[in-house]
Amino acid sequence: MAKITKSKNSKPNKAAKLERTLVLLKPDAIHRGIVGEILQRFERIGAKMVGMKLLVSKKDTAEKHYRSDIAERYGQKVRDQLIKMLISGPIVAMVWEGIDIIATVRKMVGSTYPNLAAPGTVRGDYAHISKEYANANGLEVFNLIHASGNAEEAEIEVNVWFKPEELVQHRPIYTRLTLREED
Ligand code: CDP
Ligand code: MG
Repeated sequence: MAKITKSKNSKPNKAAKLERTLVLLKPDAIHRGIVGEILQRFERIGAKMVGMKLLVSKKDTAEKHYRSDIAERYGQKVRDQLIKMLISGPIVAMVWEGIDIIATVRKMVGSTYPNLAAPGTVRGDYAHISKEYANANGLEVFNLIHASGNAEEAEIEVNVWFKPEELVQHRPIYTRLTLREED
């Protein structure tokens, strides 16, 4: 019979599913003047903002963000268009922290193609372009916002846009209550 040994650290790890995710409000969101409305949605669910800045991306930073997997999935032309779009104007880069926040933010962002995105999601509420229209007209799919797709992407993308010292450690009252975060 297998010997059952008690883990040295048997205390449950309350931070086990505490995650960080990278969100970009792309140039079309800034043009539309809906930065505040989008931000409010993440604040409203009690996610913790740990990083935020307005910037115009350099090309090499945009290339680190939209990596070769985009070309593998959609072709090099789409990747080139996307990079061009991302550096075409100001963007807002943010890091949000919370429980299962990567999946939660993706749910709030909605489907890649705004015509398929559910009402109540950012893309579903603020855009409607379809993949078919974009493809037929040689356009990228303008969908306002980027959010990391999984933990691996989140780790890479947070590091693309933020230096460690740009991420702020703080204890809002909300997370003190819900996560029992202490000073
Ligand atoms: O952003 P999301 O993770 O939902 O989608 P993605 O599959 O990672 O693709 C990245 C971005 O490429 C999308 O947000 C679209 O802006 C763009 N895209 C496009 O322009 N044309 C496509 N056929 C597919 C994606
Ligand atoms: Mg993606």
